[in-house]
Amino acid sequence: MKAAVMRAPNAPLEIEDVELDDPGPGEVLVRTVASGICHSDLTVIEGGLPVPPPTILGHEPAGIVEAVGEGVTEVSEGDHVIGCLTSWCGVCKFCTGGRPYLCPTQFAGRPEGSKSRLTSSAGDPIFQFANLSSYAEKMLCPQRSLVKIRDDMPLDRACLIGCGVTTGIGAALNTVDIPAGASVVVVGLGGVGLSALQGARIVGAGKIIAVDTQPWKFSLAKDLGATECVDATEGDPVAAVHALTGGGADFVFECIGLVPTVQQAVAMTGRGGTTVLVGVVPITETVSISAADLTLQEKKITGSYMGSNRFRFDMPKYIEFYLDGRLHLDEMISSRIELGEINEAFDRMRKGEAARQVILYE
Ligand SMILES: NC(=O)c1ccc[n+]([C@@H]2O[C@H](COP(=O)([O-])OP(=O)(O)OC[C@H]3O[C@@H](n4cnc5c(N)ncnc54)[C@H](O)[C@@H]3O)[C@@H](O)[C@H]2O)c1
Ligand SMILES: [Zn+2]
Ligand SMILES: [Zn+2]
Repeated sequence: MKAAVMRAPNAPLEIEDVELDDPGPGEVLVRTVASGICHSDLTVIEGGLPVPPPTILGHEPAGIVEAVGEGVTEVSEGDHVIGCLTSWCGVCKFCTGGRPYLCPTQFAGRPEGSKSRLTSSAGDPIFQFANLSSYAEKMLCPQRSLVKIRDDMPLDRACLIGCGVTTGIGAALNTVDIPAGASVVVVGLGGVGLSALQGARIVGAGKIIAVDTQPWKFSLAKDLGATECVDATEGDPVAAVHALTGGGADFVFECIGLVPTVQQAVAMTGRGGTTVLVGVVPITETVSISAADLTLQEKKITGSYMGSNRFRFDMPKYIEFYLDGRLHLDEMISSRIELGEINEAFDRMRKGEAARQVILYE
């Protein structure tokens, strides 16, 4: 099968023929129909998250089950599925305590010493990213990386739910409790931020202020629920948010992952408000913030990982939101491309020229 292989950091991905092993116990072979392109893959390519090359990135897929291994009972051949990187074990304290997205086994892969699920045409192992590796025509995944979805849900839109939508909407619906009417700021309007913005609209937030450096995104943000937009290239975005909210917002979602925008997000948060860190700052960097500012104004800062999801429960619900018109996915797709155009797609992402880009495999 064809796949886009990351052979080294900071280099273009290479389209190669790659072999997949047969499904082992608990494993499922999925034909990838569509995969969204998430910024976290670009962070890996740029060295901001440690993943050993050679690897196949891609973690926002939807597809159709082709075959199942021994003991697979939760999906069957022909099922339409979404893949999610927060695979879960079902027995640890996080899984049984209701927070399976924190399961420490989520990236475990096959047991030590087993054959690699992915190998190059020369027979060398290729590291599978997050049990998915969706920049490939097929995926071999644990059944607990998958959720079966309705057959009438278009897969080119369903894939967005695999990461960006679940992350953004879940940050608003699951990680924090937004009272109706509360003021919300979303900093960064990629697939993740546009989804956080829609989450804020769905829970009935009051003002929803969208901040970006790309003014072309503002009409899209307004269509998806923003009440105001702030161009971060025109003056100080913190001052603009303070002016619009009378001293800072109740909830601020940072959906970029840069040190300065994390600092801005904390500064945009008003007294008693909450900053939600959704963007992934490269692990090589640290952020300095005023502790006194947090104490004296009782601000809270929380991380939000993968929308604090229970994805077998959440993703079918988000599909219902889409099908009944509350969650807008069509508008979020700025282009549909072939796998061979993936490096150009990352260039567009670097330049802020894309909302969500989707690879179609058929
Ligand atoms: N927490 C999680 O579990 C999780 C999951 C998925 C993705 N992420 C992270 O979320 C972040 C966003 O991902 P995405 O795929 O939406 O990214 P994206 O690249 O599609 O979007 C980023 C947006 O930020 C804007 N931007 C860049 N610099 C800016 C600035 N200084 N001020 C205002 N806006 C600016 C860009 O114009 C773009 O619209 C990334 O850091 C990604 O790694 C986190
Ligand atoms: Zn992602
Ligand atoms: Zn677990």
